[in-house]
Amino acid sequence: MTLQLRCATMADARTLFDWRNDPVTRAASHQTDVLSFESHAGWLDATLANPLRKLLLAEEQGRPVGTVRIDLCADGSALLSWSVAPEARGRGVATQMVSMAIQDMPVGCVVRAEIKAGNVASVKVAEAAGMRMSGQDGDTLYFVRDVVSEQGPGRVD
Ligand SMILES: CC(C)(COP(=O)(O)OP(=O)(O)OC[C@H]1O[C@@H](n2cnc3c(N)ncnc32)[C@H](O)[C@@H]1OP(=O)(O)O)[C@@H](O)C(=O)NCCC(=O)NCCS
Repeated sequence: MTLQLRCATMADARTLFDWRNDPVTRAASHQTDVLSFESHAGWLDATLANPLRKLLLAEEQGRPVGTVRIDLCADGSALLSWSVAPEARGRGVATQMVSMAIQDMPVGCVVRAEIKAGNVASVKVAEAAGMRMSGQDGDTLYFVRDVVSEQGPGRVD
């Protein structure tokens, strides 16, 4: 499978909206309620204008299959979250796209993720990208990868 990552645009609003309202995605999110398209479009507009946030879209042969969001935090770390199109799950898309997203990040950047307990697939994705669990608060598991190294994605140092 060959994936390509590009920055999301407003033209991706409907695709991202459908993925966001997918029941499995909502169950894995902090915010579990169904969103209206209008509120989603407003969120996307603000996201694209936010210099501290990057929203990537993964494509397979030109077809959108997943997304990675990167939030640059005040402490200099980057908080990643991801989801895969329902029809594209279980084929390694998340594992590959998250590692690719990390590869594009500045060397030395600390990468983090927050994963709901029980989200076995996402725990595996985080671990494959070199992150390790650093703590837990309620049903939120905290994952961190010390630094992005020059050796490439998904490397476990
Ligand atoms: C979690 C999610 C991103 C995984 O995407 P994916 O492309 O299906 O994941 P992959 O195919 O790369 O699989 C990663 C690992 O999880 C395993 N896996 C995949 N789906 C699984 C499932 N439903 N239950 C248990 N394990 C699963 C795979 O076998 C693989 O394990 P391996 O590395 O040992 O082979 C996808 O299911 C999704 O979008 N879920 C909803 C949103 C979400 O949970 N986002 C994460 C919030 S932190």
